[in-house]
Amino acid sequence: MRAATDALRAQAVAILQANDRGGYSIPADGLYPFQWNWDSAFAAMGYACFDEARAWQEITSLLRGQWPDGMLPHIVFHGDDPRYFPGPAVWDVGHNPPTSGITQPPLLAVAARRIWQGARDRAAADAAVRTLYPKLLAWHRWFHTARDPDGRGLVAILHPWESGMDNSPTWDAPLARVPIDPLPPYERRDTGHVDPAERPQRADYDRYLTLLYRFRALDYAPGALWAESPFRVADVATNAILLRADRDLLALAEALDVEEGRTELAAWITRAEAAFERLWTGAAGGYRCIDQLCGELLQPATSASFLPLFAGVAPVERATLLIDNLRNWAAPVRFLVPSTDPASGAFEPRRYWRGPVWLIVNWMIADGLTGYGASELAARLRQDARALVERSGFREYFDPLTGDGLGGRAFTWTAAVTLFWLTA
Ligand code: GLC
Repeated sequence: MRAATDALRAQAVAILQANDRGGYSIPADGLYPFQWNWDSAFAAMGYACFDEARAWQEITSLLRGQWPDGMLPHIVFHGDDPRYFPGPAVWDVGHNPPTSGITQPPLLAVAARRIWQGARDRAAADAAVRTLYPKLLAWHRWFHTARDPDGRGLVAILHPWESGMDNSPTWDAPLARVPIDPLPPYERRDTGHVDPAERPQRADYDRYLTLLYRFRALDYAPGALWAESPFRVADVATNAILLRADRDLLALAEALDVEEGRTELAAWITRAEAAFERLWTGAAGGYRCIDQLCGELLQPATSASFLPLFAGVAPVERATLLIDNLRNWAAPVRFLVPSTDPASGAFEPRRYWRGPVWLIVNWMIADGLTGYGASELAARLRQDARALVERSGFREYFDPLTGDGLGGRAFTWTAAVTLFWLTA
């Protein structure tokens, strides 16, 4: 066991080192050759296990892509790479370094707090957090204003890619309502790296690009995007992660005696706690996303439905229901947590975000379960995650029925989770 753990750790460290492009990491060579937002939060927690300075540097390099209004893009293009589409020329945001024009789940403050808590170099950690804090606060403020201009307590995503769960069946209905504009001819690159049967369909891709080109035509101005985007969803995962990140940022401010932003953070937290009520569909359902353009609660249940546990926002009786649900999900699959309810017709065990297991999601759910005292189920999630890596390597995601590894190889976040959770 000990030797197996050491071997896994060594492999994970080697992957994080190989995917280091000089101060920032890429998720996987070829498929994702730039710095991705929430990937870097996980990467930083991984680096912290063997090189704390490198962990802080990961966050700092991502924040180099932050826009003056606080928005932190989902991709930072520190260089160009023709193997990826849509690259910097398509986004054309007019910032330096070039970036995409949309964001991703705000996990960075969660990572910063965790790295800070475990830091061996206390002085360096304190100094890093003091420098990063105003930038993280500005990003959270951007979310709470640009994406919730009426202050109703739930932020919206305007593109499926902002959820990080790009191809989730949750987006099927709202995405189908997005018209397909005439588009410049384009060639996808993802299907050259991964089996097309596991990737999004062509019509979905046309809609992703329609949104991108519309945002670009509006110069990515937040007010215009909010008013005109044909896709606007209050996503359970993004809101849960933002709430958790607000709590973690506030905890850091308190620990370091920083006054700035504390009142604001406390207000955002209170507002979000109340607003989560609107995502609750009752005992038979659970938490669901809302299409804000038509008010529809979106089906089916996905692994995101459990993330209110990570935010600590589910009252105990609801948490108990979620935990029971998750136990039920275990019956038809061998490995938890499938990204889509395995009892739903939308479940596809090998298609990206429609069934496979992502270890980063296992970690967030397990962390939430631990917070609610469900440590046995949390241990099961960890055990399944470790079994998947041992069996199939450091893949991007895994088939919950067979355990096969899928998508990219030598994947940064899978290596990172292995270090900070599976072998820690
Ligand atoms: C895919 C995932 C997204 C991730 C990116 C890089 O687009 O859906 O969550 O950030 O790959 O790993």
